[in-house]
Amino acid sequence: MNIIITTAQRPDDNLITKGLNYSKSLDIPFIPREKIGNLSKGTTAYLVVTKEGLVCHYQNHKLFYHPSMAMLRIKGINNGNEDIFTTICGDIKGFSILDCTMGFGADSLVWSFLSGENGSITALEKNKIIYAIVSEGLKGNYSKWKEINDFARRIKPLNEDYVQFLSNCPTNTFDIVYFDPMFDIPIEKSSHLQPLRLFAEKGSLTKEIINIGKRVAKKLVIVKNNRNYDFSKIGITETFSKKSSNVKYGIIRLNKGE
Ligand SMILES: C[S@@+](CC[C@H](N)C(=O)[O-])C[C@H]1O[C@@H](n2cnc3c(N)ncnc32)[C@H](O)[C@@H]1O
Repeated sequence: MNIIITTAQRPDDNLITKGLNYSKSLDIPFIPREKIGNLSKGTTAYLVVTKEGLVCHYQNHKLFYHPSMAMLRIKGINNGNEDIFTTICGDIKGFSILDCTMGFGADSLVWSFLSGENGSITALEKNKIIYAIVSEGLKGNYSKWKEINDFARRIKPLNEDYVQFLSNCPTNTFDIVYFDPMFDIPIEKSSHLQPLRLFAEKGSLTKEIINIGKRVAKKLVIVKNNRNYDFSKIGITETFSKKSSNVKYGIIRLNKGE
């Protein structure tokens, strides 16, 4: 896919500087907006710097930051409901977590909230467009709830491939290593993931990748997939799913001692 960075119409100097900086850091060419016609024509994806954040226009689709289900989940936790991550992991206050598949960063935001001020979240995203949009979104003030914006800002996003990152990671670097790859068979209900799917990397997990995750994690490796996914093919025997849910979690509890 051909990608170009540009700005909204009639940009001020600040937007142009931002566009040029993104062009340099992401290694994507910058073209001034007045030189571009219709953003939805052709097979080019236009990453547009606007005052409200980054938006990617691709054919008739638009990808922009939103925290997906994270806000609902965090409100639920605050009201005393148990989140699926707590059901699986228990109390994770102060944990260091590697989210290998950032996507919209919704899971990262829930991890950040649950691990609290002494926790740390590193989130990897291989796709440049998703990385740029979501890492910019996490820095903003999406929520009216200041604490949530603070937890979003605590997430450290990196434009990296998880296989490479994990392979270069020292043993026992994170308490939890988490994977939520694109499902081979998408769940139709997840319409919020539709625009993400256009850009997302789609490789499958293997036993070898899980083994690298086990080396890097101190306590848990967790994998999310659809309910019918065969976790045994990646060496995972413990699974958990809520009765009404289409998704299932594969869980490896590591007994490495302190
Ligand atoms: C299902 S989405 C993750 C959704 C995310 N958990 C959330 O809450 O928004 C999967 C994401 O992982 C990314 N991805 C896939 N393979 C990757 C890899 N090898 N390294 C890093 N990111 C990858 C995709 O581009 C996509 O954005």
